[in-house]
Amino acid sequence: MGLDLPNDNLIRGPLPEAHLDRLVDAVNARVDRGELKVMLLTGASRGIGHATAKLFSEAGWRIISCARQPFDGERCPWEAGNDDHFQVDLGDHRMLPRAITEVKKRLAGAPLHALVNNAGVSPKTPTGDRMTSLTTSTDTWMRVFHLNLVAPILLAQGLFDELRAASGSIVNVTSIAGSRVHPFAGSAYATSKAALASLTRELAHDYAPHGIRVNAIAPGEIRTDMLSPDAEARVVASIPLRRVGTPDEVAKVIFFLCSDAASYVTGAEVPINGGQHL
Ligand SMILES: NC(=O)c1ccc[n+]([C@@H]2O[C@H](COP(=O)([O-])OP(=O)(O)OC[C@H]3O[C@@H](n4cnc5c(N)ncnc54)[C@H](OP(=O)(O)O)[C@@H]3O)[C@@H](O)[C@H]2O)c1
Repeated sequence: MGLDLPNDNLIRGPLPEAHLDRLVDAVNARVDRGELKVMLLTGASRGIGHATAKLFSEAGWRIISCARQPFDGERCPWEAGNDDHFQVDLGDHRMLPRAITEVKKRLAGAPLHALVNNAGVSPKTPTGDRMTSLTTSTDTWMRVFHLNLVAPILLAQGLFDELRAASGSIVNVTSIAGSRVHPFAGSAYATSKAALASLTRELAHDYAPHGIRVNAIAPGEIRTDMLSPDAEARVVASIPLRRVGTPDEVAKVIFFLCSDAASYVTGAEVPINGGQHL
């Protein structure tokens, strides 16, 4: 991949070798028997990612997750959660090769059925307003693009063999802000999500001959930490369904796209926004 690895030691939660054999033998036997599907989910600790991990876990999937914070076993009661979680700042592209190594270690040659690129950042001004194309600093542009766009590219590239082995699928989490100027989301966020939608098409085209489907979901306003406290009241009147969405309503669409029910769906960007695109 040609990237340097100066900050390898900054990955926290690397899988201890002692755990590896025990975890891998038990899990891979179930994968071989077709009893278990495996996903990598970025940003599983809160919001849409948390609801997604919960739903897939209830459906019997193994969840490999990553975020900057450690695994919280009380909030996230899925099997092997602690061993299958590692801490990484995906906004630092130099960490990505090491993050991919952590995933491969946990897979130990087993296929990967789904990659869900969910972790994202939507910076606001200190007063909670949108950062415009006139006021966004270079550092902010880079930080947003690294997490929202570059990390999904590198994960998709780095895990290509494992996804191909499973005839797996990728779901990228874009946003309604990628297709219109949005009252809260800033310019860097909006353009990164537009680029991620475009990346979804490119990946869908390039990965289709290898049996890998690539889709996106574009949420509107969903009740998570990312939504500022007054946002709900401000937008509800403009949403045809007259309410914001919930994380589990997003998780269900991600689940559909990763399931055999969507076996002929690739290159799609599904709006989940209560009708705001109408
Ligand atoms: N909520 C909405 O209304 C809405 C609307 C449209 C699109 N979306 C998109 O949906 C996705 C999830 O949003 P959300 O509302 O669920 O967000 P959230 O509640 O803020 O959760 C974000 C998740 O990403 C992780 N994360 C953040 N920065 C990271 C980094 N640098 N490296 C690794 N992990 C990182 C966080 O964990 P740590 O803090 O531990 O790192 C957390 O698990 C995002 O891509 C967002 O753009 C959300």
